[in-house]
Amino acid sequence: TPSQIFVRNTSCIAYTYDDLILMPGHIGFGLNEIDISSQLTKNIRLQAPFVSSPMDTVTEHKMAIMMALQGGIGIIHSNMSIEDQAAEVLKVKKFKNGFITDPVCLSPDMTLEEVWRTKDKLGFSSFPVTECGRLGGKLLGIISNRDTSFIEDPNVPVSDFMTPRDKLVSAKEGVSLIEANDILKKSKKGKLPVVNEKDELVALIARTDLQKNIDYPLASKDNVNKQLLVGASIGTRPEDRDRAKALVDAGVDVIVVDSSQGDSVYQLDIIRYLKAEFPKVDVIGGNVVTPSQALHLIEAGVDGLRVGMGIGSICTTQEVCAVGRAQASAVYHVAKFAKRHGIPIVADGGIKSTGHIAKALCLGAGCVMMGGMLAGTDESPGEYFYQDGVRLKRYRGMGSLEAMEKGSEKRYVWENTTTAIKVAQGVSGAVQDKGTLRRYIPYLMQGLRHGLQDAGCASVAEAQEKLYADKLRFEIRSPAAQSEGGVHSLHSYQKRLY
Ligand code: XMP
Repeated sequence: TPSQIFVRNTSCIAYTYDDLILMPGHIGFGLNEIDISSQLTKNIRLQAPFVSSPMDTVTEHKMAIMMALQGGIGIIHSNMSIEDQAAEVLKVKKFKNGFITDPVCLSPDMTLEEVWRTKDKLGFSSFPVTECGRLGGKLLGIISNRDTSFIEDPNVPVSDFMTPRDKLVSAKEGVSLIEANDILKKSKKGKLPVVNEKDELVALIARTDLQKNIDYPLASKDNVNKQLLVGASIGTRPEDRDRAKALVDAGVDVIVVDSSQGDSVYQLDIIRYLKAEFPKVDVIGGNVVTPSQALHLIEAGVDGLRVGMGIGSICTTQEVCAVGRAQASAVYHVAKFAKRHGIPIVADGGIKSTGHIAKALCLGAGCVMMGGMLAGTDESPGEYFYQDGVRLKRYRGMGSLEAMEKGSEKRYVWENTTTAIKVAQGVSGAVQDKGTLRRYIPYLMQGLRHGLQDAGCASVAEAQEKLYADKLRFEIRSPAAQSEGGVHSLHSYQKRLY
């Protein structure tokens, strides 16, 4: 009968993170003893299991640098030209803590008026002057507030008032931060230009930066050159092979094949190509939400899987395409299946709190990928703006019309077609300012430790061992239980996260 067919074809209920709650375990260890390190891929382990999403309002080099410094990793989005994306990857690989490797330089024939305008726009006051006006040019001098304060004629060229090269103290390329600090202290200068053998500027060190420079003991680094780890996304179209080549040449450590439905011949082809052509670079395939989708990508050779469909904070895929899966179920089922093949999974999207992070990892994910949680930070692309007195930054889905007009359509249309009709699978909006990741990531890490501790697990690995041994238990919350688990019965309250 029709009703029997309906029952057979709608076989089970899927759960979201909010539907589930972890049962407490026995706590026999301190918060600081908890190990939150976990696998991103077969070959990459992170000290903090956090990944920033390849979205154009989330991950460019600033985000990727700060994520890697704090033990996670950033995936540079591909909604830009191949050259620009490779340059973003290179900036992360070349990053040296405390060194400004892309300082804004002035040319000697710029006028004072142009300098004033640059200062106003960028908000800082010292600039190195090079022959060509760019990094890599011969160092000619530096200008600081002291050099510009007493000149009135706006047409005077920089060369007339800069502190010239022979009066500058500089350091040679290869200098360590400790040596640079000593030189700055002795010279009593605010800036130290770093030059190569040809006296060309290669970096700048600022005394103020050195003072606030923190050591990052958890930083994610490669084994070869000890440079920060970075990932980048590509699509599945033929031209994405050139993109992959440029990213590999720039030093990318992991390539994420970015597709909202990853189980396609286009994706399988590109995964096989990447593994054959660049065997040393790990490949994460996706997105998938079922074991059978996962199996196809595993057979094609992926080193990691990205799990999630239509559950992101800006997603409308489930509404528009009627396909997807509630995230807690997707993570649990795919992780359990992929584990049999030794493939870690990244739980991508739908993370709204540190509790969700703990749930995703306890359901079997190696890492969590976040978009909305990391948007609206100092390190995400874009400028802050105010609306109704609230400080915000833009955050948009890669399937929003706005993002697709810039090229991200390939995440949703995998083959080369000439269709003029675009179907949005995401929205654009704004999220509230969260400040800098320097403070925000440690908060996420500590929240996760609290979750694991309450569940009686001293590490992510232990949580997953217990999960599969049926010793870590979740319960399903009724709608009333969910509302009981949130703040209730208050007239008003203020929510501060950290
Ligand atoms: P969160 O919840 O962290 O989700 O903001 C980020 C993830 O959402 C996916 N994504 C999209 N999914 N339409 C979608 O259906 C979109 O426009 C869109 N943009 C991003 C992506 O997996 C990301 O990591």
